[in-house]
Amino acid sequence: MATTWNPASWRAFPILQVPDYPDATHLASTESELASYPPLVFVGEAQRLKSALGRVAAGRAFLLQGGDCAESFAEFSPNNIRDTFRVLLQMAVVLTFGGGVPIVKVGRLAGQFAKPRSSSVETQGDIELPSYRGDIINGIDFSKTSRVPDPDRLLKAYNQAASTLNLLRAFAQGGFANLDEIHRWTLSFISNSPQGERFEELAVRIDESLRFMRACGVTPESTQQLRETDFYTSHESLLLGYEQAMTRQDTITDDKGWYSTSAHMVWIGDRTRQPDGAHVEYMRGIRNPIGMKCGPSLDPDELIHLIDILNPHNDPGRLTLICRMGADKAEEYLPPLIRAVEREGRTVVWSCDPMHGNTITSSTGYKTRPVDRILSEVRTFFDVHRAEGTYAGGVHFEMTGQDVTECIGGAQEISETALADRYHTHCDPRLNASQSLELAFLISDILKVHRKEATIPAMAVAS
Ligand code: TRP
Ligand code: MN
Repeated sequence: MATTWNPASWRAFPILQVPDYPDATHLASTESELASYPPLVFVGEAQRLKSALGRVAAGRAFLLQGGDCAESFAEFSPNNIRDTFRVLLQMAVVLTFGGGVPIVKVGRLAGQFAKPRSSSVETQGDIELPSYRGDIINGIDFSKTSRVPDPDRLLKAYNQAASTLNLLRAFAQGGFANLDEIHRWTLSFISNSPQGERFEELAVRIDESLRFMRACGVTPESTQQLRETDFYTSHESLLLGYEQAMTRQDTITDDKGWYSTSAHMVWIGDRTRQPDGAHVEYMRGIRNPIGMKCGPSLDPDELIHLIDILNPHNDPGRLTLICRMGADKAEEYLPPLIRAVEREGRTVVWSCDPMHGNTITSSTGYKTRPVDRILSEVRTFFDVHRAEGTYAGGVHFEMTGQDVTECIGGAQEISETALADRYHTHCDPRLNASQSLELAFLISDILKVHRKEATIPAMAVAS
């Protein structure tokens, strides 16, 4: 590992998952144009998120991270953004209520465009083309022209991220997230479902509390916390040329460090976390809060080695370990990682991605995920942490506010044949609004039990 870091130092390291751009000059000029554009997020915001994640690491808050597997140019619309945001708000309220702790809300949004692929080519019939790598790189159509990596897509992705973020900021701070608006967050197509009804019951109770507080003189007009929410953005830091162009030195605070301004938080994927590789080199130098995906292939010693590189000062909130083991593997693979981290005294946020280890192909030929396996990995994640005496700090979902049929099962009982109805994802299958709420209620129930367990012994001692 080189001792001096700069935003371009990753270029001297071995790199995986790089697109093959035919025109290197065009790529370089596009990257330098991007480097002259305004940052998408500000350093102070990334620092705030890091502090909030520090509270998660200490067991005083809970992380909710969710959004598209891959954002696309085709699905870019204000309604899509609003609907995903709505479902995230609903999930956040459910979790705040159940857990009785602040929920740190982070979208996989406004920049989640680049996808790692298991193969660099895709074959259909006797035609072989480069794989689709996300809209920031090439097009999803199975045609020769569309699969050529095109640097102009970097600028399009930047612009889409900028306007998505603009709308999210307006929603989070401009009135939509006001707790008084809670009844407006339920999407019409789930209002008559069991999840919709359960949410409505909760909303009525929150209304009642707000009315009581209003009578006491605390209102959304007088109290910013009731009127607004902090909403952060994140994506996988995969396309390093784009990330480098968005890496800026802080000029406002005294920090002087380098930050990715492409999102508040970025994470390293399970396929690109080689300790001597380009992605780890890039990530070690930025000061944002970062995530790292941990799959079954991650050895506990290697994890500690990676933590040494990525968080050498053991800074709370800096590193979130996003575990994606699979429902049937979590019980075996999670404890050794937790024990290594505990033994070495490292502070991390433990988060659970129950999506990526539970992908199967349906008999009808769709890539899908059974909701019961997703629920089961979440349960195992909490059980393992309880057994180890550590804090299960968060969850990471691929979800959408749209009424899609991509994951099977759940309260709506989506069947393998029903997948064909509304299967729209550009990459992995996402939970729809109803399935997302179902998960939020499950987690909220678990958090409620933990909260009771945590308070009862203390009261017993006090009496
Ligand atoms: N500001 C608090 C928070 O973000 C309360 C809050 C306001 C809230 N609007 C919200 C919580 C919407 C969840 C969803 O936690
Ligand atoms: Mn995915």
